[in-house]
Amino acid sequence: MHILLGITGGIAAYKSADLANALTKRGHAVDAVMTKNAAEFITPLTISTLTKRRVYTDSFERVTDFDVEHIGLAKAAELVLIAPATANFIGKVAAGIADDLLTTVVMAAHKKPAVICPAMNTAMYENPIVRDNIAKLAKLGYRFVEPREALLACGDLGRGALADMETILGFIESL
Ligand SMILES: Cc1cc2nc3c(=O)[nH]c(=O)nc-3n(C[C@H](O)[C@H](O)[C@H](O)COP(=O)(O)O)c2cc1C
Repeated sequence: MHILLGITGGIAAYKSADLANALTKRGHAVDAVMTKNAAEFITPLTISTLTKRRVYTDSFERVTDFDVEHIGLAKAAELVLIAPATANFIGKVAAGIADDLLTTVVMAAHKKPAVICPAMNTAMYENPIVRDNIAKLAKLGYRFVEPREALLACGDLGRGALADMETILGFIESL
């Protein structure tokens, strides 16, 4: 399957390397799109080495072929997987904002099945704004893999840790 893997700028972005690796080894073609902030947490080089494909970022150099790129990526994708998904990313998609490559691809790929795996601090996840955004997207057909309860990187104990890789992979296989 051709999977568009969106990686956003949360601490769990380091786990997207394992996910990219596992998906590739299972025979999927993985086109990874990283937000500018995701690249603060994990390098595109790591992801591209694991997917054996080009990684798309929001770098300024790409602006020249941006139009072709975001539509091409959206058309090629058979499944859109966002892991981890920040509160910011979820909010932008729910509001119809497409101000970087990833949100633009997601906007263009709205007819494709999309799985969003949120990961954030518990208070952020429980924020009514985030709850509303998730409810709105779920109503529109976006699927969510709920975060786990865990001791989070910030030191808080609660729901917000990215779902286990096996849970995410199992969810995808079930689609
Ligand atoms: C160290 C650090 C860890 C962060 N972890 C998260 C996180 O797990 N989840 C989240 O929603 N935001 C997290 N943020 C905030 C996001 O990086 C911020 O909202 C950013 O604008 C997200 O950009 P993006 O959605 O375009 O990738 C973190 C920020 C920092 C500095």
